[in-house]
Amino acid sequence: MKRIIINQKQFMQKNSKIYVAGHRGMVGSAIVRELQKQGYTNIITRTHKELDLTRQEQVEKFFAEEKPEYVFLAAAKVGGIIANQTALADFMYENMTLEMNVIHSAWKNGCRKLQFLGSSCIYPRMAPQPMPESCLLTSELEKTNEAYALSKISGLKYCEYLNKQYGTDYISVMPTNLYGPNDNYHPEHSHVLPALIRRFHEAKVAGLKEVTCWGDGSPMREFLYVDDLANLCVFLMNNYSGDETVNAGTGKEISIKGLTELVAKVVGYEGAILWDTTRPNGTPRKLLDVSKAKALGWTYRTELEDGIRLAYDDFLNNPMRAER
Ligand SMILES: NC(=O)c1ccc[n+]([C@@H]2O[C@H](COP(=O)([O-])OP(=O)(O)OC[C@H]3O[C@@H](n4cnc5c(N)ncnc54)[C@H](OP(=O)(O)O)[C@@H]3O)[C@@H](O)[C@H]2O)c1
Repeated sequence: MKRIIINQKQFMQKNSKIYVAGHRGMVGSAIVRELQKQGYTNIITRTHKELDLTRQEQVEKFFAEEKPEYVFLAAAKVGGIIANQTALADFMYENMTLEMNVIHSAWKNGCRKLQFLGSSCIYPRMAPQPMPESCLLTSELEKTNEAYALSKISGLKYCEYLNKQYGTDYISVMPTNLYGPNDNYHPEHSHVLPALIRRFHEAKVAGLKEVTCWGDGSPMREFLYVDDLANLCVFLMNNYSGDETVNAGTGKEISIKGLTELVAKVVGYEGAILWDTTRPNGTPRKLLDVSKAKALGWTYRTELEDGIRLAYDDFLNNPMRAER
């Protein structure tokens, strides 16, 4: 396979050409904000409408014309449990083709460094807690998002194989549950934290006396503010090389009950919170081992309550997002 070779120099320069794929999503938009904050001036983006990353010809043309030196791959077909379970084939096809197209075209056109966004939900169902990077592919996957996980693992492995076969410097990051500006607040398709923000906000506005949540509130979960993730992504682009992924989290956990009370407090909902224990709880505990990122010199900055305040502010002031 013919590839254009550019002299390898991994540090991003302030005027390096950087392509952020998925810049209108929660993660991609945070990466663009972080790059701009740090003074990077040559960021290129394309909307889904301008460039459908599942279309090989379009992607090859874009990379051949633009030749980005650095790529953050934050575009993906993302969804909650219901979407993942009902559209297994679509999740696999779209994510797999998108990833292969972007990574392959980046490599073919001399991209110096690419960063692939994984997700902690692709670790095995029964992974040890907290989950170290090394537990990837050590046992069976979670059935409810198997298609998504297999496609993500393929992207991650393709980066690793390019490194091994062609000596590239393509890396990946594995975020825990994220929240923050540009989140998805859809009543059925959103993740737990944005879903709670919306429910308590609507309950407050409607003057409801009680809100019922699923399960008993006992599962323990971890949450990272998306701007902190973006800070880590840029940090890793400049400071990390290696085939193994890097976990992105806080290393701190909170029960769903604790989270619910925190969101209610921030939103200003004063009614009762009831628990429907006939509904499933989900996995008892999901926490990342963040010692690798720490050893590299990075740690999160935004505490959960502060982050929820910022996210609620975005929810209130970003009506387009509230409708997603
Ligand atoms: N959100 C989380 O809690 C979380 C946690 C861990 C990991 N991650 C990872 O972070 C990455 C980004 O997630 P996110 O939460 O930012 O998702 P998001 O808000 O849904 O953003 C995804 C972006 O990708 C774009 N996209 C999807 N398919 C495309 C295509 N065929 N061509 C061009 N653009 C396309 C979307 O554009 P349109 O909207 O126009 O389709 C959207 O802008 C994903 O890889 C995800 O696995 C997210």
